[in-house]
Amino acid sequence: MTRILTRRPFDPDKKGTKPKMVTYEVDLNKCGPMVLDALIKIKNEDDPTLTFRRSCREGICGSCAMNIAGVNTLACICKIDARVNKTTKIYPLPHMYIIKDLVPDMSNFYAQYKEIEPYLKKKETVNYGDKQYFQSVEDRAKLDGLYECILCACCTTSCPSYWWNGDKYLGPAVLMQAYRWMIDSRDDFQVERMAKLQDPFSIYRCHTIMNCTKTCPKSLNPGRAIAEVKKLMAAFKGKAKAASL
Ligand code: SF4
Ligand code: SF4
Ligand code: FES
Repeated sequence: MTRILTRRPFDPDKKGTKPKMVTYEVDLNKCGPMVLDALIKIKNEDDPTLTFRRSCREGICGSCAMNIAGVNTLACICKIDARVNKTTKIYPLPHMYIIKDLVPDMSNFYAQYKEIEPYLKKKETVNYGDKQYFQSVEDRAKLDGLYECILCACCTTSCPSYWWNGDKYLGPAVLMQAYRWMIDSRDDFQVERMAKLQDPFSIYRCHTIMNCTKTCPKSLNPGRAIAEVKKLMAAFKGKAKAASL
């Protein structure tokens, strides 16, 4: 038996109610090894109202991101702490508006992702299907460690700068994708993509605290990607200044 303690919401229909923590006991001999297995078991057998997101159960879709024992991670690839005298505390991703229980409101995160235009942009006009855009093996390799991001937001919601400025600072996950498209050899809009980030908030709120990289359940390095964007931006500003002299 192990104990799972998880956050339940205020009841939106009952004014004045507050969020509370609820403890569930789980028999580990009758449960799969991961935290998501325990949550599904609790939902199936003890409390059908317990609410959380999940889909793939394989660490691919990013939907089961939550804060487990103090760490932002994916419930489906996080092993249950088998020490029976230990209670595992589970919260929703931190500093997000909560819709219910372990379900955060991801609207701002997705709107920010949309803002960076995460798709190939070309200056020439072509009809879809007319032509392929080739990429050398070397240029393709530059995208390794970037394209694998599953947009779970574990990194972004572990970033203190994002906690305080999440309305204007884009955060590590989105900035890593901004970088991924900036360095794609097939894209024609690198300069415009950089120009969009020139304000004091979009990228420059990153202070290299590196919580993002520490917590990424896919072992990616968004902190490094942001540092690379800053380098590109510095070179871009230098060139722009030289051109104006
Ligand atoms: S490195 Fe930047 S993005 Fe990552 S946690 Fe620190 S401040 Fe946030
Ligand atoms: S960089 Fe890692 S933690 Fe951040 S959104 Fe992508 S997969 Fe999740
Ligand atoms: S359920 Fe898809 S990543 Fe966990």
